Amino acid sequence: MKKATNSKAATLKFGSKTIELPIITGTENEQAIDIRALRKETGLITYDPGFVNTGSCESEITYIDGEKGILRYRGYDINDLAENCEFVEVAYLLVHGKLPAPKQKEAFSKHLNSHSMLHEDMRHFFGNFPDHAHPMATLSAMAVSLSSFYPELESIEQRENVDFKVTRLLSKMRTAAAFSYKKSEGHPIVQPRHDLSYCANFLNMMFWTPVNGYEPDPVCVKALNKLLILHADHEQNCSASVVKMVGSSDANLYASISAGICALWGPLHGGANQHVIEMLDRILRKDKGNVKKVLARAKDKSNPFRLMGIGHRVYKSYDPRAKVAKQMCKDVLAQLGVNDPLVDLAQKLEEAVLADDYFHSRNLYPNIDFYTGLTYRAMGIPTNMFTVMFAIGRIPGWIAQWLEMKADPESRIGRPRQIYTGPVKREFKPKHI
Ligand code: ACO
Repeated sequence: MKKATNSKAATLKFGSKTIELPIITGTENEQAIDIRALRKETGLITYDPGFVNTGSCESEITYIDGEKGILRYRGYDINDLAENCEFVEVAYLLVHGKLPAPKQKEAFSKHLNSHSMLHEDMRHFFGNFPDHAHPMATLSAMAVSLSSFYPELESIEQRENVDFKVTRLLSKMRTAAAFSYKKSEGHPIVQPRHDLSYCANFLNMMFWTPVNGYEPDPVCVKALNKLLILHADHEQNCSASVVKMVGSSDANLYASISAGICALWGPLHGGANQHVIEMLDRILRKDKGNVKKVLARAKDKSNPFRLMGIGHRVYKSYDPRAKVAKQMCKDVLAQLGVNDPLVDLAQKLEEAVLADDYFHSRNLYPNIDFYTGLTYRAMGIPTNMFTVMFAIGRIPGWIAQWLEMKADPESRIGRPRQIYTGPVKREFKPKHI
C-alpha cells in the first residue's frame, strides 16, 4: 500500500508545551494533521462529533472532491465507469485494484454464477420471517448467517481464500436479496440461472413467476448495471466505517457486512432512497404537489422534517452520481414508456431547492438517492427493496474497504474516546437503593 507523503508540520501550543504535528499529503494533495502523538505528548484528545474533520485511514480505493463534485474509483471517473462498464467489472476493479482483462472477467463472472445458490437450510430461514419483514432486516440476517453456513471462509489469511469469499458473498447476497422480495410477496422462490449475467439473473429471480414467466428487459439490465455502479463505493461513509469498525475487532467479513447493511438502512444514509419516494408520494397526495409548503416545512427549525435525497456530508456541489442518475431516470422512463407523476414532482422540487437561498447558502443539492428510486420504481422494483438494491451495489466497496484495512499494518481496533460530562465521584449510600 502506498503511503501518503509526510513533509511539513503544524505547531500546536498548549499551556507551556509546544509540539510539532506532521502534515501528511495524499496523491490528490489533500492534507491532514497527523495527531497520533497528540495524547501521549499533551494529554489532549480531539473532539469531533460525527467525525466531520477526522481521517480514519489512508486509502487507495475511492477519491471524492466534494467541492468540485468529483468521484473516482481507483482513479477512474464515475461517469466513464457508469457509461462503459458492467457492474461485475467495477466490482472487480474495487476489490482487485484494476479493471479485469476479458479472460479475468469471464472467470470472475463464472465464479459468481457457480456460487450463486444458497444452502437449502438457509432457504428455510426465509419462511420464518413474517411476510411484512423489511427486506433490509432479512438481508442483514442472511449476511451474518453465511458465516455459520460457510465457516471455512472465516479465515482471511490466504489471498485465494479471499477471492473465493468475495465472489461467494457478492453472489449469494444477490440471491438472498431476491429471495427476501419473493418471501415478502408470498411467491415461490426462483433459483439463479447459470446462463444469465449478474444483473439479468437478479431481475429474473425477482420477477419470474410460474404463471407469467419473465424475460429480462435489456433496458432494465443496462439500467441496473449503471445503478449498482453508482452505488459501488463512497470511501469512509457511515456504512463503510461501520464495516471497518466491526472488522477491526477481528470479527469475520460476513458479520462486518451485516453491520454495514444495518447502517445503510438508516434514512440519513442509503435508506433515503425509499424515503424520497414516500416523501414525494405524500407531497403529491396530501400537499397536492405544493412544493413551496414543503420547502417551508424543511426550513422550519422547530420541525424535524428534512427533504429526503437533499444534502450530503461531503458534496458541497451537485453529487456527480445524482447527475448520472437524473439523466438515466429520464432515459429509462422514456425507453420503458413509463409516465410517472412523481418524476415531474421531483424535478419541480429540485428546481425550487436550487433557487432557494436556505439550500443554496448551505450547499444542499440532490444526492444519489433523489433520482435512483424513481428509476427502480419504473423498473418495477418495489419501494421497500430500494435500499436492498443500494446494499447489493455497495457490497464490493465494503469488501474492498475491509480488505484494505486488514492489509494495512497501521490499522488498529477502532476505539474513539470521549469527554465525560456526567457526575463526578459521589459517595455511595445504600439507603438510596
Ligand atoms: N433538508 C433541510 N435542511 C437540511 C437538509 C435537508 N435535507 N440537509 C441538511 N440540512 C441543513 C441542516 O438543518 C443544517 O442547517 P443549519 O446549519 O441551519 O443547522 C445544515 O443544512 C447542515 O446540515 P447537517 O445536518 O449539519 O449536515 P450533515 O453533513 O451532518 O448531514 C445529511 C448530511 C445527513 C445527508 C443531511 O444533509 C440530510 O439529512 N439529508 C437528508 C437525508 C438524505 O438524503 N440522506 C442520504 C445522503 S446520501 C447517502 O448517504 C447515500
